[in-house]
Amino acid sequence: MTTIDSAEEPGYTSSYLADQHAGQLARLRTLERAFDPLSQAVFDQLDLPRKPAILDLGAGAGSLAGWLSKRYPDATVTATDIDTRFLTGIPGIRVITHNAGTESFPAASFDVVHARALLCHLSEREDILTRAATWVRPGGWLVIEDVSLQPSLRTANPVFRKVAQAGVTLLERTIGSDMLWADTLPGQLRDRGLSNVGHRTLEGRIGDNSPADTFWAATTAQAGPALLKLELLTQDDLEAMASLRADPGFTHTALTFVSAWGQVPRLG
Ligand SMILES: C[S@@+](CC[C@H](N)C(=O)[O-])C[C@H]1O[C@@H](n2cnc3c(N)ncnc32)[C@H](O)[C@@H]1O
Repeated sequence: MTTIDSAEEPGYTSSYLADQHAGQLARLRTLERAFDPLSQAVFDQLDLPRKPAILDLGAGAGSLAGWLSKRYPDATVTATDIDTRFLTGIPGIRVITHNAGTESFPAASFDVVHARALLCHLSEREDILTRAATWVRPGGWLVIEDVSLQPSLRTANPVFRKVAQAGVTLLERTIGSDMLWADTLPGQLRDRGLSNVGHRTLEGRIGDNSPADTFWAATTAQAGPALLKLELLTQDDLEAMASLRADPGFTHTALTFVSAWGQVPRLG
């Protein structure tokens, strides 16, 4: 069973979402099933050179990096993570253990730098964004995708609202996550001098057996012991939420998935 020590330094790798937990690979797969098609559509509309150098920061279990190496057969695809245990055996990618909060790459190394479901969890998110923009070549793209939990905090349903608020509090307190930060992404890219900034926001629902619903349920199940331990929820709350989600009459927007992209201005 997952436990967390509330005296521990907050951070992703010591949290209930970290890779050492038994269900983490299965949970990352639910995330990939929910969001890979959306990320792929963003890449498909980017204008890239024939042999692009692509960096996927915090690549998790690597399905998107693997897709990138097939989509762009002449590309160099680099996948990084602070914990690379799930990035083995994926053909066509270069894997590097790398802490995005403290480590860098040389300036102008990549045609695309991408990060998904990473920066919302890292307290140094705005500094990382500033540094990541410098790793992109002139004419290349910074593509950032994150989840906002804003819709679940706005629900009128008291059971769902309590569980959603508890989840956001747990993420903030134990990791340092900001689960509303995704909503600021287009402005963050413009503030860093990027041009041709584009963005797209899509909703993910619960209670409809969609891939987003499955991801939400897997994450809530993994968080359950920590929510109970910190007394943010009771077992009765978790059971009431499970019944609500199973109720055929219930479905609700739980999250939005925000993708934002911007181009580093060409020289001259
Ligand atoms: C929610 S998962 C998302 C994985 C992947 N980007 C995806 O969307 O499928 C977050 C990933 O970020 C990694 N991570 C956490 N802190 C990191 C850091 N400081 N530097 C690099 N990766 C980190 C975790 O190990 C985990 O694999």
